[in-house]
Amino acid sequence: MDILHYGCGNVMIPYLIARQKDTLRDYPIHFIEKDFLETAVEELRSFDLAILNENLGDFPTLVDLHANLFNASSATMTGPLKRARYFIDRYDLIQPDERPFNLNIGALDALDKCCLAGIPNIFLGEHSCEAQVPESYRRYITVRATGNPERISLYGHNEYTIKFSHLEKVARTFGYRIIRCPFADFLPFEFTDKLRCIMNQPSPGCDEHEIIRHFLTDLFQYEYLLLTSDLTSEKRKELSANGINEP
Ligand SMILES: C[S@@+](CC[C@H](N)C(=O)[O-])C[C@H]1O[C@@H](n2cnc3c(N)ncnc32)[C@H](O)[C@@H]1O
Repeated sequence: MDILHYGCGNVMIPYLIARQKDTLRDYPIHFIEKDFLETAVEELRSFDLAILNENLGDFPTLVDLHANLFNASSATMTGPLKRARYFIDRYDLIQPDERPFNLNIGALDALDKCCLAGIPNIFLGEHSCEAQVPESYRRYITVRATGNPERISLYGHNEYTIKFSHLEKVARTFGYRIIRCPFADFLPFEFTDKLRCIMNQPSPGCDEHEIIRHFLTDLFQYEYLLLTSDLTSEKRKELSANGINEP
């Protein structure tokens, strides 16, 4: 199986790539050291599985967009705005209301490429701006979910939370089966009395509690999409052909 696993600690740091190559030396892994957004669809066609774990938030997000920007003809648009318009039109992304909104243009671009390349299995996971906590945990766990991608400021760079419903729309257009869940789905935990007590405190009592609270919250703040397709290569080609006129 050919696996595309994007990101390598910090993918642009050759030392970390070398370490990962060494760790995985016994497996038939093909390394590509390249900006994903510069990667052509053709280069992705041979892969059976793409894993995009915790990197879509690093990709560019357009911020403070206004819906009326997209009422104009796309012929007058250039650069990222033209690309944004392409995604909004092609994938029927919900027209936002009057408020300014942010668009995960890099994440849309990355998934669009994987789908156009016909990769049959795709996993992607990130901080979600649409996260939800099941009713039974809501007393203890609070996530941020404004529905609009939000900036997360980190040391040396910013990331943005991901609007998963947009990515679902991309996948649906290509006929993928979609599983969408929080990370808690595959990292189950036992909600013991001790854990309940830690989560119920108004603030963490010690470092260990703070780590636990953060980890447990992230199990719901992070979502994943598992996309699988068994469409024939002819059907995929047909769907890919729809994307030929992309800007
Ligand atoms: C938080 S790390 C995730 C690491 C990954 N889960 C792994 O197992 O290696 C985010 C990664 O995304 C990579 N990244 C960010 N923008 C990228 C781009 N345009 N092309 C390729 N990788 C990128 C960063 O270099 C970093 O390695």
